[in-house]
Amino acid sequence: MKTKITEMFGIQHPIIQGGMHWVGFAEMAAAVSNAGGLGIITGLTQRTPADLANEIAKCRDMTDKPFGVNVTFLPTVNAPDYPGYIKAIIEGGVKVVETAGNNPAQVLPPLHDAGIKVIHKCTSVRHSLKAQSIGCDAVSVDGFECGGHPGEDDVPNMILLPRAADELEIPFVASGGQADARSLVASLAMGAEGINMGTRFIATKEAPVHENVKQAIVAASELDTRLVMRPLRNTERVMTNDAVERLLVKERELGDKLKFEDIIDEVAGVYPRIMSEGDMDAGAWSCGMVAGLISDIPTCKELIDGIMSEADAIIRKRLEGMLAA
Ligand SMILES: Cc1cc2nc3c(=O)[nH]c(=O)nc-3n(C[C@H](O)[C@H](O)[C@H](O)COP(=O)(O)O)c2cc1C
Repeated sequence: MKTKITEMFGIQHPIIQGGMHWVGFAEMAAAVSNAGGLGIITGLTQRTPADLANEIAKCRDMTDKPFGVNVTFLPTVNAPDYPGYIKAIIEGGVKVVETAGNNPAQVLPPLHDAGIKVIHKCTSVRHSLKAQSIGCDAVSVDGFECGGHPGEDDVPNMILLPRAADELEIPFVASGGQADARSLVASLAMGAEGINMGTRFIATKEAPVHENVKQAIVAASELDTRLVMRPLRNTERVMTNDAVERLLVKERELGDKLKFEDIIDEVAGVYPRIMSEGDMDAGAWSCGMVAGLISDIPTCKELIDGIMSEADAIIRKRLEGMLAA
């Protein structure tokens, strides 16, 4: 399959693995890239720019295919050393950067000067148009069903993708709720040039997370995610567990008075305990509604090859077969 996204990023299949905190290590990114998609290392999971440089070098040893780095701009007072991370990306010879969170305008000139393509993740048409106007090369349009931060507008992809297609000139991929060939073909039909998956890639053999995390995704249904931190306007879709239900009680009880400090035990620094140690009740961790569509733990190659061959069958047999001769 050839799309504007496969052409832009020099990849075989129009499938991207979105940056994921404590999941997007070199092993994850290399497995996806080796399978013909675009794997992405999560920049801020690396504690320092020097650590990120090492992770990029490690990934390069594991694949000769293109891979990217995610840079998430967090709403925080003590900003990470963004210039240092950007320098590590440029010096590491990375060719694609996925930005997310706040406006990435300040990092576009150095990235573009280094010949790096930038795909910005947006949860609204408004932000996608802004990304286009500041010079991003592509956008990842992240619907309400997505794992992680869906924004505050709550527009699902069935509406968001065609709206994006109506307004945007730069190519975009569909993100959120994507799991299989049906997702890919439907997203292409709505104007996307490919798909971005998070949760689906965690439940793969190569994902460098504890087995408990993979099993939790397989066991979960589409009813098992919750939205937390809405009162802080930092909404996150997470898998439900004891800590999340506790957090939601606090949100209900404190209402408008809720502050980040009130929920710090459930959200701060919990990722290593969950992703590496498999302590599934340690706190809130991002997970998409798409968990309801995930019932196996394939290799990344099995997953991507399966999606591509089934997409071919859906397009050539099912859809074509519906057309009157
Ligand atoms: C465990 C987890 C951690 C994530 N961490 C990040 C992150 O650090 N930065 C980011 O831009 N997106 C992050 N995301 C969002 C994904 O990149 C992707 O946009 C999202 O998972 C797509 O929705 P899906 O899970 O329905 O496929 C995370 C998602 C998950 C499931």
